[in-house]
Amino acid sequence: MVDFERSAASLQIPSRSNCKPPPPMPKKWKTKLIHSDAHIPEGFRSLSIPVYRGSTVLFPNAASVQDTWDQYEVGYTYGLYGTPTTLELAARICELEKGFRTFITPGGQGAIALINFTFLKAGDHILVPESVYTPNRKFAVQVLRRFGVEVSFYPPTIGGGIDSLFRNNTRLVWCESPGSITMEVQDVPAIAAAAHRIGATVVLDNTWSAGIYFDAFAHGVDITMQALTKYVGGHSDLLLGSITVRDEAAYQRLGSTHQLVGCAASPDDCSLALRGLKTLAVRLKALEDAALALACWLAERPEVELVLHPALPSCPGHEFWKRDFTGSTGLFSIVFQRQFTQPQVLRFVDALELFEIGYSWAGVTSLAVAYDFHSTQNRPDYGHRIVRLNIGLEDIDDLKADLAQALDSMK
Ligand SMILES: Cc1ncc(COP(=O)(O)O)c(C=O)c1O
Repeated sequence: MVDFERSAASLQIPSRSNCKPPPPMPKKWKTKLIHSDAHIPEGFRSLSIPVYRGSTVLFPNAASVQDTWDQYEVGYTYGLYGTPTTLELAARICELEKGFRTFITPGGQGAIALINFTFLKAGDHILVPESVYTPNRKFAVQVLRRFGVEVSFYPPTIGGGIDSLFRNNTRLVWCESPGSITMEVQDVPAIAAAAHRIGATVVLDNTWSAGIYFDAFAHGVDITMQALTKYVGGHSDLLLGSITVRDEAAYQRLGSTHQLVGCAASPDDCSLALRGLKTLAVRLKALEDAALALACWLAERPEVELVLHPALPSCPGHEFWKRDFTGSTGLFSIVFQRQFTQPQVLRFVDALELFEIGYSWAGVTSLAVAYDFHSTQNRPDYGHRIVRLNIGLEDIDDLKADLAQALDSMK
């Protein structure tokens, strides 16, 4: 466990008294509004991590002023690079993912963009899985191509065969395992080994595993990102992302781009995420149990052709989940039998009473969203028949009853 007081001390947070002793001159009330001499008792200790807000950071003297982003090196310089609350969250994510350092971004998509801006330049080539989170795909197509980066997509189950897609300018290989909506589990070690043979960097969207159930760095990944919005936040009320690196070189490159892109995260949101971390273990266990129970139950229903849950053999890449993951979480998809029309699938979603309809996932409320892959290139032939379910913390029997009545309503 990271000791907050100890880590804050090691970062040399200047105390008010170190920075500026109270001025001896008498003050008018307006001045006192800004430079108060009021005193309160010292020594407060509680179990919550304080929310340090701040853009300006005070320096002890004129000579020590500097604008350097690496606060681990020089102490605190500017709120953009993180207050102690932000850095505490970063240090804890880094500890859980067993990386070298972590950056916090204002959202998961912000983390994706920052990684691409840092590690790519015009003339480079990037490989992205076809199953990637749609805004990640769109960033590659709509932004990276505009800046002269060559973008290719690859089948998520390609494994070591990815080497046939390498070019002499391939710099970055994205992985997302399991993939968004279609849930393919990737052979990340094989992809990483191939990428490293040509000196390319491997980056993984590790959101589904919460950075817990897949040890990315032990499986060859160089950089991980997570939407902390999901399991770490856990209550659908914040947006945050993280980027964790395995070495100092990547840390330096990311840090300077983070500074120039200026993507500061709110300390208030970081404080909510720190609170979320405290209950992550119990939430993950409950969500895993409930999702597995419901996935197995749905697999037996005649309306369902396929359950895309990584822990079930029906999910593409299930063997890699079994080999590489230590658990599963609460998000999976189902594919209805071919005879079901789109209106019937939509009727199923609309008939659900406990499952709400909405984007994002990993909160305490069960959610259902229907997708339509008819016009999406290179996705499996699921058409309009795929529905993604986020399992929440409601009673499993109630969720089962809700799914049963919604399935009945399709007929
Ligand atoms: C797999 C995955 N990665 C990244 C993101 C982006 O996260 P955020 O919503 O925090 O920008 C999402 C959001 O849905 C996601 O599902």
